[in-house]
Amino acid sequence: MAEQKYGPVIKASKALLNELNNAIAREMQVAIQYMWQHVQWGGVKGFAVHDELKAIAIAEMKHAEAIAERLYYLGAIPTTKPTPIIVGTSLKEMIAQDAKDEENAIHLYKKIIDMAREADDETTNRLFRQILQDEEDHHDTFTTLLEDL
Ligand SMILES: [Fe+2]
Ligand SMILES: [Fe+2]
Repeated sequence: MAEQKYGPVIKASKALLNELNNAIAREMQVAIQYMWQHVQWGGVKGFAVHDELKAIAIAEMKHAEAIAERLYYLGAIPTTKPTPIIVGTSLKEMIAQDAKDEENAIHLYKKIIDMAREADDETTNRLFRQILQDEEDHHDTFTTLLEDL
């Protein structure tokens, strides 16, 4: 007879679960970061960036939620702690930081896609391929904006 087990059923490797929690921590970071940048923007050039920051902040919050749903299904508890938030002071400083954060996301999500593929976890793989596409769009937006700041 199978041994009775209690607690959540763990359906993924510890390494993958850890990376999903890292992903959630940085999605929460950028959601708050872009939201406060949206509040603190200034100057004429800020007009061009203002709405974009708000829209991207909301997209990041949706990413955090989607990843947390997946992590919870896989048997782990989503973190409540964002990675350090760096708002910046000038608009140029803000957008340069944001471009860097998107680069980090792209790097991490490619790694998660590889891990999910190796684990035959098609759902996590698909989720992160969709999110990766958004992050590449964000990176493109921020680097384009940066050229004009
Ligand atoms: Fe994101
Ligand atoms: Fe992003």
